[in-house]
Amino acid sequence: VALLVALVSALACTPADQPPPSTGPTAAALSDARAGAAGIGDADFPNDGNGGYDVAHYGISIDYTPADKRLSGITTITAAATQDLSSFNLDLTGYDVSGVTVDDEAATFSRQGQELTVRPARPIADDDRFTVRVSYAGTPQPVRNSANLGTYGFIPTRDGAFVTAEPNGAKTWFPSNDHPADKATFDFAITVPAGLTALANGELAGRPTTASGRTTWRWREKQPMATYLATATLGTFELREGRTAAGIPLLAAVDPAFRSSLDKVYTVSGEVTDYWATVFGPYPFGSTGGVVDDFATGYALENQTKPMYGGFAPDEAIIAHELAHQWFGDSLSIRRWKDLWLNEGFATYAEWLWAEHKGKGTAEATFQRNLARPADDPIWAYPPGRAKPDDLFNQSVYTRGAMALHALRKAVGDDTFFKLLRAWTAEHRYSNVTTEQFVALAEKMSGKDLGPLFDAWLHEPRRPA
Ligand code: ARG
Ligand code: ZN
Repeated sequence: VALLVALVSALACTPADQPPPSTGPTAAALSDARAGAAGIGDADFPNDGNGGYDVAHYGISIDYTPADKRLSGITTITAAATQDLSSFNLDLTGYDVSGVTVDDEAATFSRQGQELTVRPARPIADDDRFTVRVSYAGTPQPVRNSANLGTYGFIPTRDGAFVTAEPNGAKTWFPSNDHPADKATFDFAITVPAGLTALANGELAGRPTTASGRTTWRWREKQPMATYLATATLGTFELREGRTAAGIPLLAAVDPAFRSSLDKVYTVSGEVTDYWATVFGPYPFGSTGGVVDDFATGYALENQTKPMYGGFAPDEAIIAHELAHQWFGDSLSIRRWKDLWLNEGFATYAEWLWAEHKGKGTAEATFQRNLARPADDPIWAYPPGRAKPDDLFNQSVYTRGAMALHALRKAVGDDTFFKLLRAWTAEHRYSNVTTEQFVALAEKMSGKDLGPLFDAWLHEPRRPA
């Protein structure tokens, strides 16, 4: 009877000119809807990302004023449920959240640590598409990691902000499923005081528009992207725009303090992008480039289409590294952080290939120089095939990871090795990958049992024999 009464009153409340609300499973069928998990399932980062849904698109609209370091934002997320959901989480740190809607209906929400838990007015059925809108405002607080990650996330600078979020700093500026296992397309609308430039991923979606002294910059990243690669770097920049020799749209931007490196960043980024396309396969994105800001992070980050250099003029090696990441890390993204060598080992090996290409020493010579490191060098004790959550970016993940690739190249021969790199980037373009998948492809293409080689280079806590 209670059910009947509820049904009748629900029908009674439905305006005559709208379809009845329940087109999917009935409320009864969703009675076992449960909360989406608070983490995506990466055991090393148990709270990162979330379960129960898959994001298709982020629409990020932020307004930022450097003078008072205030950010206000509205993020619109389009997602598909992967289970019947009574509630689900997003990752967000700091800010006051003023409202959350699901499919335009007010939702209740609560916050604990980085988890923003959203309870929609009615459960969401498995496979259903839904749209979440989160309104928030406050002062961005980047992550300050005293161990070995430095400062990352949305980092306020003197004249704007520098935004580099690897591994999990997207949560410092927009609510998201903050883990590379859930990639999505992005639209950005970034509003700043007129005169400043706001740089996000992908390409400009129209000319910037100015009203009442504030300019809105709209960018669109059409290819799937991991949340940590999203940027909204803004401030005073000098720009050079054009195309690479092969015709890829190219943008270099530098803080005025790095004015003298604008032409080099532009030229080398174009040259490197075109060369990598001949070695790794077609460039995966709609544009390329590089951004130098005056905030010294001590690192660079391979932000999709726009690598960021934090407070230094990049040399050719690091430009070669960050642009190699457009294939290894950005187009092909890791599913679990423990496989980080698939990003850093490959990008480091690319530095060796760039030197070889430029006649500045062979990859073999670089390999031998590293092999000559003493027995007690820390890279031999740290197996790069399993990046440690408290020491993700260890030198071994970079250098010994690159050595693993060179050892592979010697074992299978140049022809198979470079075909393998191109098959790898083609088969998993815009997707997620694991070490096991790479090993399987290498064995298939070479017809060799490579277990012992990968074991020695990736998994043993000692120098390979
Ligand atoms: N992926 C970057 C590189 O290419 C490193 C990023 C380090 N991140 C950090 N929070 N320190 O080297
Ligand atoms: Zn790297």
